[in-house]
Amino acid sequence: MTTAPPRPRRITLADFHAAAREILPADAYDYLEGGAADERTVRWNTEAYERLALLPRVLTGTAGVDTRRTLYGTELASPVLLAPTASHGLFHPEAEAATVRGAAAAGALTTVSTFSTLTVEEIGAAATGPWWFQLYVQRDRALTADLVRRAREAGATACVITVDTPVTGLRERDLRNGFALPSHGTPANLAGVAAPADQGTAEQGLAPQPPHHGIHDPRIDPTIGWSDLAWLRTVSGLPVLAKGIVRPDDARRAAEAGIGVWMSNHGGRNLDTAIAPLTMLPAVADAVAGRVPVVVDGGIRRGTDVVKALALGADAVAIGRPYVWGLAADGADGVTAALRALRRETELALALLGAPDVASLTPDLVRPAW
Ligand code: GLV
Repeated sequence: MTTAPPRPRRITLADFHAAAREILPADAYDYLEGGAADERTVRWNTEAYERLALLPRVLTGTAGVDTRRTLYGTELASPVLLAPTASHGLFHPEAEAATVRGAAAAGALTTVSTFSTLTVEEIGAAATGPWWFQLYVQRDRALTADLVRRAREAGATACVITVDTPVTGLRERDLRNGFALPSHGTPANLAGVAAPADQGTAEQGLAPQPPHHGIHDPRIDPTIGWSDLAWLRTVSGLPVLAKGIVRPDDARRAAEAGIGVWMSNHGGRNLDTAIAPLTMLPAVADAVAGRVPVVVDGGIRRGTDVVKALALGADAVAIGRPYVWGLAADGADGVTAALRALRRETELALALLGAPDVASLTPDLVRPAW
């Protein structure tokens, strides 16, 4: 009798990516992986890191390294957060319950999406570590305030408001696949809330969207403005971050209002050819001038990417697709393993750079590779 050779260990995010591709149904994989239109921004997000080189400092006497970072009073094992991603039920039967448990086991913080498969109450009950709530502001402001209240009461310690999605990007993979959320992926937090006809896009003179799935949701209010963020700070009683900023002028305005800056182009899923956040990070960090935290997501696949973002002024980074690869591959354990892999790489990068901790990462450690 022959026995199957042992499965090679998964040691990098790319290994989890390969596993997820094998395991997931093709349309769910495409939904996760896909970006808008030609997916140029998806590519640029990773290329922005590849184009930067590190300049290690030698003879610094650095022995051990410390990757810990404190954000809004919460100490994290490393400066890597889980970015909000929708519908974890598409990727694992335990959905967000597995995600929050897996993240906590790695000392990481999860940002839970408005479009989670489980309710915020179920996720809060499963959570063994810190989590934030990502909010899509709903047309119905009473419902919006209630969502935030429910998240806070369930244990969320900050509110991340997505500001880059007045309409959904052109997800061509999903259109080709005729993809719609199956029942195990629909957003539980909004159960029973009627979706209006596709008024969001019609109001803006756009063609109607294909069947709604999570993000293509006409309940999202395309008209939100700065005053809504101020309102949400008051009603939530939580720190508020605005996710989707890439411009220094927007970042300055957020910082002046005490709103955290989460730099993102939505993983290249909304406006194709939008700039990679990393490219704008030095100018944004300058505009923010330490008044509020700066988080940056998009394209982080290695510990060397983490240290580059921190050196250029980010307080923390966030990953999206990579932890979902872990979730798909191995549930909570896969999430933990993917985060630990990234943390080990971050530790190695710090040690080899001669930087004892994340606070000692400075812009002089990074320059264009050529
Ligand atoms: C959800 O935010 C998505 O980009 O699909």
